[in-house]
Amino acid sequence: MPVKNTEVQYHIGLSQDQLCGARYALLPGDPGRVTPIAKVFDRHHELGQHREYRSAIAYVDRLPILVMSTGIGSPSTAIAVEELARIGIQYFIRLGTTGTIQPQINLGDVIISEAAVRLEGTSQHYAPLEYPATGSITLTNSLCDAARRLGIPTHVGITCSSDSFWPGQERYDSFTGYVLRRFHGSVEEWRRLRVLNFEMETAALFIVCRVFALEAASLCGVIAQRTESEAVRKDVYDIVQERLSKIAKTAISIHQTTVETR
Ligand code: URA
Repeated sequence: MPVKNTEVQYHIGLSQDQLCGARYALLPGDPGRVTPIAKVFDRHHELGQHREYRSAIAYVDRLPILVMSTGIGSPSTAIAVEELARIGIQYFIRLGTTGTIQPQINLGDVIISEAAVRLEGTSQHYAPLEYPATGSITLTNSLCDAARRLGIPTHVGITCSSDSFWPGQERYDSFTGYVLRRFHGSVEEWRRLRVLNFEMETAALFIVCRVFALEAASLCGVIAQRTESEAVRKDVYDIVQERLSKIAKTAISIHQTTVETR
């Protein structure tokens, strides 16, 4: 019998014996999205909340899955991975929201990240900037297969993970409207380099998981279309939320089968 770790992790407030053997974690940023995601599964129970980390256990048939929020940005995401790794999580799937910078991508569409631009600082505490931030091929392929199976409009490519919502994503609707010269024209440049979208967590997730020999994938719903407007569209939240949850549920079943037949 493996010994269970009953030590409560400092930031997330969870111990291994609360996870019911879960090896998969679904990671939204927003604590408010934990229960709605868990409800899409066959059954669930809540675990509680510590700081920005709200958690629940959801099941696909008898397979337990942890749903836990990371809060916004790379530092809190890296902390989540560190502490979840210690209590037995092996597979990490981000379920986030994002702004696209490509005109062919629509509000409500889903973006799966193959890799991420490291426009943040946290991941450099784990690996030098030359090291690529890439997702797990098997986990990412499971997301792609699930999205295809469900007929959900999906785009696969490179994501830019920024440490700031306004200047790093070249948004001028900030408090002062001032954006450092270094970021002027950056959205156009990323667009020309075929980057699909901006968000704030994927690069750190990919780097920390990769250097820990854990597997990560990232799936985001489009809530801002930056070629049209800087605004975030709250009215597409529910569509995005439902799509991400359904894809994740199907992807975990696909991935389980892949892992079992390896
Ligand atoms: N999250 C981001 O970081 N940027 C957006 O445009 C939308 C969500």
